[in-house]
Amino acid sequence: MVVEFHNEPATDFTDQENQQAFKDALKKVKAEFGKEIPLVINGEKIFTDDKYESVDPANHQQVLGTISKASKEQVDQAMEAAKEAYKTWRKWTPKERAELLIRVSAIIRRRKHELSALMVYEAGKPWNEADGDTNEGIDFIEYYARSMMELAHGKQVFDREGEHNQYIYKPMGPGVTIPPWNFPFAIMTGTTVAPIIAGNTVLLKPAEDTPLIAYKLIEILEEAGLPKGVVNFVPGDPKEIGDYLVDHKDTHFVTFTGSRATGTRIFERAAKVQEGQNFLKRVIAEMGGKDAIVVDENIDTDLAAQAIVDSAFGFSGQKCSACSRAIVHKDVYDEVLEKSIKLTKELSIKHTEGGSDVYMGPVINQKQFDKIKNYIEIGSKEGKLEVGGKTDDSKGFFVHPTIISDLKSSDQIMQEEIFGPVVGFTKCDNFEELLEVANDTDYGLTGAVITNNREHWRQACEDYDVGNLYLNRGCTSAVVGYHPFGGFKMSGTDAKTGSPDYMLNFLEQKILSEQF
Ligand code: SER
Repeated sequence: MVVEFHNEPATDFTDQENQQAFKDALKKVKAEFGKEIPLVINGEKIFTDDKYESVDPANHQQVLGTISKASKEQVDQAMEAAKEAYKTWRKWTPKERAELLIRVSAIIRRRKHELSALMVYEAGKPWNEADGDTNEGIDFIEYYARSMMELAHGKQVFDREGEHNQYIYKPMGPGVTIPPWNFPFAIMTGTTVAPIIAGNTVLLKPAEDTPLIAYKLIEILEEAGLPKGVVNFVPGDPKEIGDYLVDHKDTHFVTFTGSRATGTRIFERAAKVQEGQNFLKRVIAEMGGKDAIVVDENIDTDLAAQAIVDSAFGFSGQKCSACSRAIVHKDVYDEVLEKSIKLTKELSIKHTEGGSDVYMGPVINQKQFDKIKNYIEIGSKEGKLEVGGKTDDSKGFFVHPTIISDLKSSDQIMQEEIFGPVVGFTKCDNFEELLEVANDTDYGLTGAVITNNREHWRQACEDYDVGNLYLNRGCTSAVVGYHPFGGFKMSGTDAKTGSPDYMLNFLEQKILSEQF
């Protein structure tokens, strides 16, 4: 009997024992720097001549590991392995598959700090964010395992005189998982594990910036006894193998989390039926956001400022749920802005290995650093730079938390996804206008409304076009099982991770109808 689902609790870093355990984990991870990471195809570790390095974004001269890159031929081999493994893996009962994955989550739980510590170095995560990432990975496994067990016998359909009918769920075949670097464990794990719990097999192409943490999952899957070929690990250059993975005639589904440009490209390419392909591919895409916190009149301005600052600058604003627009009623605008600036000035920014009290680390890489820097320059012309704006990539990719005020909704930095610690403020006259501006974006992922007016909240529930809408809090930190996560418009296919429906993305429904 499997115990009821509960979320993995956050580590209390005020406890000295936990502090020490995390410091030990940082040391352990550091001792492994420089490791060679192979491809894994049908359980076999393959070291290729073509390699690249994963570096510490807070200290970019520090190489963390060297990663073998898969070629197209190796993608073909991985697909063959996934096809072969599918023949038997699909016949494991959902319960057997779920039990194996629950064993996986038990191993992760035991090695939690080691995984989180690796994300401190590979993704620049602060301790609490890294811990949350690992915990969310555990939650996804535990939640999806239970979901699949609930679907094991299908759902009820009617029988009628002389006829017995069954409505059951079956897996689809091999598919491709392309996860992001910003939740390098949680989303990578969730989008790899959900399809396999459903009985599919997977080619996992880890995010280029965070292959080491992805390889940890591969090791753990092996340790837990996952049959060979069920998950194949194919790191590589997206320009070389990205399209190839998506276009492959045997790819049944692609589960992607990342940029709008790549997600849209995958969606288009997957629609084309390739020679030898006799099914339609499914695409699950979670793309960007241009999320806003809407602040009404007559509210607690401390709460509003805290919600904006936490949502804009947690993990350096590198969450698709991050608040990048503060849309504030004119009566409280000055006060909320002033309080947000004050809170922002208190935030510490440095290498996150320094301790659990470091609020923010670096941004992920040079390309993002340059992009964010450019947006800060644009924003400083479009509006007024209030705080931050400082950038330094001499050692690591550091961008200070930045607030730009007095913007118009049409301004470039109020329209384009920045994916960094930058938030723009704009002023409105009334609630209708606040909502209008909030919806004035191509994206529709998360949003929050700070209001004490119930009618306004009701209006937002109807009209604010986002997948995740929150009242009187920030717009980040969805919790598996509580706040299924996914968005509308150009934010993606609204697959709603951590929801009771998520497993259906990886299943087909079959009817068995028998007359007697
Ligand atoms: N699920 C995360 C959040 O809600 C973002 O991916 O912040």
